[in-house]
Amino acid sequence: MTIENGYLVCDGMHIIGAYQELPEQFRDAQIIDYKDRLIIPGLCDLHTHAPQFAFRALGSDLELLDWLEKYTFPEESKYSNLDYARKAYDVFVNAIRHSATTRACIFATLHSPATVTLMEKLEQTGIVSYVGKVAMDRNCPDILRQESAQAAYVSTKQWIRNTKDRFKNTKPIITPRFIPTCSDELMYRLKELQEEFSLPVQSHLSENKDEIAWVSDLHPHCHTYSHAYEHFGLFGGERTPTVMAHCVWCDDEEIELMKKNQVFVAHCSQSNFNLASGIAPIRKYMTNGVNVGLGSDVAGGSHLSIFRAMSDTVQASKLYWRLIDQNDAALTLNEAFYLGTEGGGRFFGKVGSFKSGYEFDAVVIDDSNIPTTNPLTIEERLARIIYCSDDSNVHAKYVRGEKVL
Ligand code: GUN
Ligand code: FE
Repeated sequence: MTIENGYLVCDGMHIIGAYQELPEQFRDAQIIDYKDRLIIPGLCDLHTHAPQFAFRALGSDLELLDWLEKYTFPEESKYSNLDYARKAYDVFVNAIRHSATTRACIFATLHSPATVTLMEKLEQTGIVSYVGKVAMDRNCPDILRQESAQAAYVSTKQWIRNTKDRFKNTKPIITPRFIPTCSDELMYRLKELQEEFSLPVQSHLSENKDEIAWVSDLHPHCHTYSHAYEHFGLFGGERTPTVMAHCVWCDDEEIELMKKNQVFVAHCSQSNFNLASGIAPIRKYMTNGVNVGLGSDVAGGSHLSIFRAMSDTVQASKLYWRLIDQNDAALTLNEAFYLGTEGGGRFFGKVGSFKSGYEFDAVVIDDSNIPTTNPLTIEERLARIIYCSDDSNVHAKYVRGEKVL
């Protein structure tokens, strides 16, 4: 739904309502007039990697496991150097600050000092985020391998204690990288921490065929990849809010489990194209009542923009319909917009919509640099922003009622 030349009324942190005419009782309220610009709910990036921003767009001729070995792990190992981390995280944080994103779930690396630095910098942006110190203790280069599950547990616990109450908008999240890099012992210890501190969980699930075969070898007793996480209590449920990136190849049984456990799927279509992972069955997830939001997955994805993720999502769903299953209709642009706002926003509570009672996250868009000779409706202008913008059209940004840009 759109309103032309209307009023968005908020009471500090929350939306009161969106109106065509200003209701009488708000006549004396302070008014900010954004004139012909568009005001939309803030966008939510449910999955990205801050330390990978420095090499985005490189290595996309590889598939996941080779790409991790040749590009990702060497880059992430540099974050043991705090000077490097400061410089690189400045670049990432500056980019997300100026984007249309107001909420994000972010992977850091396993290095505590660098991860705290990232959190400090993110807090300055006003964006609300979960940040994960990555846990991994096997199947990775020595330089990135935590020496034991116990050592990973101790350092993760210390990092949680150090950060959980330190920031208003930036919070820790339990982050096993993915099953292949986490021993059973580490997964059990992460579950202990998740319970002790009541934290949410983020990880990767079912992205690439070779990865899935590997998980099956590592966990022959678990008949799907999802059940491997479930086995350790790290797959959703009432007290374990969980977001899983990718979910390209999940079967019906996994869909059932995701729905039952209220797991969020972070759909990262651009990454799935770049790394030739496949096309996730997003229509199927939506039809079956699974929570879905969008992720940029930088640097699997090359763009941080969730506008770009929306248009990629529509294109991916069209290919899925055309090439894989004609029963799963392509997504409309409205549906992709929903996924990039409220769909992912629900992971953060009442977020991502201008409905009454929602947290006031809004982005003011100036589309005057996307000229046209045609008169356009609001929906048409929004479509052009989604397809043509690279976040440079962001004029102002509000998060939880505060102007942050
Ligand atoms: N699976 C495990 N680690 C990663 C990562 O860094 N990026 C992506 N796309 N998938 C992963
Ligand atoms: Fe990822």
